[in-house]
Amino acid sequence: YVIGIDLGTSAVKILLVNQEGDVVQEISKSYPLIQEKTGYNEQNPEDWVNQTVAGLSDLMRNFSGQPKDIEGLSFSGQMHGLVLLDLNNEIIRPAIIWNDTRTTVECEDIYAKVGRDQLVNITKNSALEGFTLPKILWVKKHEPELFARVNKFLMPKDYVRYKLTGKLHTEYSDAAGTLLLDVPNKKWSKEICNSLDIDIGICPPLVASHDEIGTITKTYAKQTGLGLSTRIFAGGADNACGAVGAGVLEDGKTLCSIGSSGVLLSYEKNGDKDFQGKVHYFNHSAPDSFYTMGVTLAAGYSLSWFKETFASEESFESLLSEIKSVSAGSNGLLFAPYIVGERTPHADSSIRGSFIGIDSSHRRKHFARAVLEGITFSLNESLQIFRENGKEIETIISIGGGAKNEEWLQIQADIFNSKVVRLSSEQGPGLGATMLAAYGCGWFDTLSECADKFLTVEKEFTPHKENMETYKELFKLYQEIYRKTKDLNK
Ligand code: XUL
Repeated sequence: YVIGIDLGTSAVKILLVNQEGDVVQEISKSYPLIQEKTGYNEQNPEDWVNQTVAGLSDLMRNFSGQPKDIEGLSFSGQMHGLVLLDLNNEIIRPAIIWNDTRTTVECEDIYAKVGRDQLVNITKNSALEGFTLPKILWVKKHEPELFARVNKFLMPKDYVRYKLTGKLHTEYSDAAGTLLLDVPNKKWSKEICNSLDIDIGICPPLVASHDEIGTITKTYAKQTGLGLSTRIFAGGADNACGAVGAGVLEDGKTLCSIGSSGVLLSYEKNGDKDFQGKVHYFNHSAPDSFYTMGVTLAAGYSLSWFKETFASEESFESLLSEIKSVSAGSNGLLFAPYIVGERTPHADSSIRGSFIGIDSSHRRKHFARAVLEGITFSLNESLQIFRENGKEIETIISIGGGAKNEEWLQIQADIFNSKVVRLSSEQGPGLGATMLAAYGCGWFDTLSECADKFLTVEKEFTPHKENMETYKELFKLYQEIYRKTKDLNK
């Protein structure tokens, strides 16, 4: 058996998987978000540790085998969060997490001091509020007395792993989301640290996702019931682990993951292509590889907002069953899902959403279909950037809420102009973490072999020519919406 721990934003999800890749136990434990001011999002790292330990001990209590039967354990985690530690590795302040947006000024500072071209050259990414470096600069400026005590920083899952093993590291896929990593060369960037007067010594040692870190400490072995023989591997960023868990492990493979936000993510063998910072470009959790990624901030969230507002009595299923009778293009009704701003391609937190082309014949079902189409158009903008930069997209593996409805999967195939597949059971990043542990334990020679064993395609959706043509025209109109409405809310 192997265990995968996925440290999410609202809960930690723990999976126990056997050698066939079957999930034999799944446990979830939640923790709160601290939102003291608008735009502030913090969490208490001790909550992550306590809930992970509680989850592991529930899992071990329900486990019928021996502790030694659990060969390996690894992690997936929410990206970009800043955990600051002092010389004794004690927490200095609550963690500032990925969806915190207080650092607009710090992002401008980074561009001014490092230079946009230099930043994108080294890190392959643009400066965004959610990333770790702007958060470090914010603490340095606003809490200098706390910053003076900083000895190391870590990302969320690295802190949990540190507590469980006593060994302090990060790994490339999470380091890539800091804006301090030279992504192609996989080392911390002296240039960026120097330009911003940050001591490079606060950056933690780097390892690969499948590297073995050690075993659980005696204290936590006692608290969780895990044995001292379970091998613990570094793990990866949640998006990288999501990609591993969906088998996005070779050129041509792309992931569409729709949760509250939506992600379009594509495998890259090389780290030196130039996407000009238009999409995220991070190190993968699969050895020596990378991925590009675009984000739609309100994907599933747009749909749940629509349901809560206009169909609160109904289930998603019954709301979406209505859309079958509406043809592609929703009879001229178009939706832009910018209800909390947009990340890719606009990086604009003040833009807001719209319905365009409302006709008196439109009913709720037209609006519901337009919402699904609008979310998919937004993700298609990321896909378009991949394709404009020469990427061939052959298969898109759809996971999360977006893979639950067959009409929506067909809409994805038609708008993306690509084959879209659904897996028979999909567990997201947690499964990716178990695969890293299985690979680390030597169950398979490669992660792809592990994916062949653990994952099965349940159904394929191929584009309908006529719908594809309709969507191609509508997509042009969709892209106009941003330009025409961006000043309305300023
Ligand atoms: C990625 C990002 C989010 C977090 C959520 O850039 O900010 O997907 O990783 O956990």
